[in-house]
Amino acid sequence: MAFSRLRRVDARDLSCYIIATFGDNLSNAFDMTISKEEILAAFQFRHACKEFDSEKRISAEDFDFILETARLSPCSFGLEPWKFLIVQNQQLRERLRAHCWGAQKQLPSASHVIVGLQRTPLTLRYDSPHVQEFMRQVQNFPEDVIELRLGFLETFQREDFDLLGSERHLLDWAGKQTYIPLANMMTAAALIGVDSCPVEGFSLAKLTQALADDFGVDPQIWRPTYLLCLGYRKQPPSRPKTRQSMAAITEWFD
Ligand SMILES: Cc1cc2nc3c(=O)[nH]c(=O)nc-3n(C[C@H](O)[C@H](O)[C@H](O)COP(=O)(O)O)c2cc1C
Repeated sequence: MAFSRLRRVDARDLSCYIIATFGDNLSNAFDMTISKEEILAAFQFRHACKEFDSEKRISAEDFDFILETARLSPCSFGLEPWKFLIVQNQQLRERLRAHCWGAQKQLPSASHVIVGLQRTPLTLRYDSPHVQEFMRQVQNFPEDVIELRLGFLETFQREDFDLLGSERHLLDWAGKQTYIPLANMMTAAALIGVDSCPVEGFSLAKLTQALADDFGVDPQIWRPTYLLCLGYRKQPPSRPKTRQSMAAITEWFD
C-alpha cells in the first residue's frame, strides 16, 4: 500500500521537501505530492492507542517534527493560547497517572507524553498586558495596528462571541484553540507511522493541583486541556474503527 512508503519518510525528508518546494517564497500554492489515498490511510491508521510498546522510542527528529505541527497551528486572532509540557520523567508521569483514569496504561508505556496547557482568562482578555505584549513581541505589529486589533478583539470578546460574561466562556474559547494543535499533532504523527492517544480522562481540579505542586505550573495563568501520549502500538486496535456515515453527518444546500 502507498502508505507503507509514506511511513518511511522521516521528518528531515519532509522538511527538505517543503523547503525545496517553497524555497524562500511561501506565497505559492503547496505542491502536494502526498496522495489523498496516503493521507486517508494515515487517518485510518490513527486510532486511540491504549498501550504502547515501551521498548520503542520516537526519534528526536520525528518528535520535533510532530511538535512543529503544534507550533504552526492556527488560532483565533493568532494569540497562541497554549503551551506544551513534555513529560519524560517516569516519576512525574506517575504523578499525572494518579489523576488520569483515561491513561493508566498509556502514561507509563508511551515514548513521549505531552501535557497541553491553555491560557486562563487573566492573560487572554483583550485588556490583559499579555495580549498587548504578544502582539508587540511575537506578532510584530506596529503600535497603531495593535490598537486597532485590540479594538477588534474587544468587540469580538464582548459582543460577537459574548466571551466576557463569565470566566468559563473565555476558558472554553482558549480550550477550542488548544485542540487545534492536538489534532495536527495526531495527524502528523500518523503520517509518519507514530501512534497516539489523546487524553481527557482526568480530574481537572486534581490535575491542575498536581501540575502546580510537581511541575511549577501557575494555575492563575495555565490550565490543563489534555494529554497526548505518543509512541508505537503494542498490539493492533481491539476493534475496527466505527464512524457515522457521511450522509448522517452532512447536509447540503445547493
Ligand atoms: C479530546 C479527546 C479525549 C480523549 N480522551 C481519552 C482518554 O482519556 N482515554 C482514552 O483511552 N481515549 C481517549 N480518547 C480517545 C477516543 O475515545 C477515541 O478517539 C474515539 O473513541 C474514536 O476512536 P479512534 O480514535 O480509535 O478512532 C479521547 C479522544 C479525544 C479526541
